[in-house]
Amino acid sequence: MTKTQGFFISFEGGEGAGKSTQIRRLGEALRADGHEVLVTREPGGSAGAESIRHVILSGAAEPFGVRMEAMLFAAARNDHVTALIRPALAEGRVVLCDRFIDSSRVYQGITGNLEQGFIDRLERVAIDGVRPDLTVILDLPAEQGLARARKRSADIGSSEAPDRFEKEEIEVHEMRRRAFLDIASREPDRCHVVDAARSEDDIAGDILLIVQHRLDQEEDVDAADSNPLRAESLS
Ligand code: TYD
Repeated sequence: MTKTQGFFISFEGGEGAGKSTQIRRLGEALRADGHEVLVTREPGGSAGAESIRHVILSGAAEPFGVRMEAMLFAAARNDHVTALIRPALAEGRVVLCDRFIDSSRVYQGITGNLEQGFIDRLERVAIDGVRPDLTVILDLPAEQGLARARKRSADIGSSEAPDRFEKEEIEVHEMRRRAFLDIASREPDRCHVVDAARSEDDIAGDILLIVQHRLDQEEDVDAADSNPLRAESLS
C-alpha cells in the first residue's frame, strides 16, 4: 500500500446488527489485499479507555446520570484517539472501529435526551480532529436486533448478563435506528447504510465493495497529489 495517510472506518448500529462479525470479515479481506489493518472498539480500545469501559458498562456510573456517562464516553474516546487511532492512521493503516461518535450522538444525545450543543462540544474535544473517513451503519429492525442480541447472550451463558445499554425495550431501539438513519441522510458522503437483515455473506460482500471503492478513490488522490504534473496544473 502506497498511502501516506491511513483510512478510518467506523461501524455503527443497534445491538445484534452483526457489527463484530462484519468487522472481523472485512479485516480479513483487507489484510488479504495487502492492507495493514487495526481492529478496535468503543468504549475501549486503549488501556485508559478500557478501564472507563468497565466503569460505564457495569452500570457503576449510571446513578450519576446520563451527562456523566456522556463525559466518560468522551474521555474514553479521547484516550483511544490519542493512544491508538491517530498513531495507526499516521502509519498508513486502515482502522476499523466498532462504534464511534455516532453512538454518542444517538445513545446519549437522542435516547439519553442530552442537548445537541453539549454532545457537539464533547465530540469536538473527544476526537480532536480525527473523524471517520467512512461510517458503515448496519441497519436492522429493532425486534430482529434485540432477538439476535438475546440469543447471543443465551448462547454465551448466564454469566454474560445484558449490559447497561442492552436492557432497554423495542421502542428505544427503534428510536435509535431512526437516529442512525437520520445521521446517514445528513452526512451522505461519510455514511453508508447497509441492510443487515440479509445473510452474513451478502452483508460482507456489500461492505467490501463500498470500502474497496473508497480506498481506490483515496489511492487515486494520493497518486495525483504526489504527481508534479498535477500539482502544476492545479497551481
Ligand atoms: P458493547 O458490549 O461493546 O456492545 P455492542 O456490541 O452493542 O457494541 O457495548 C457498548 C454499549 O455502549 C452499547 O450498548 C452502546 C453503548 N455506547 C454508548 O451509549 N455511547 C457511545 O459513545 C458508545 C461508543 C457506546
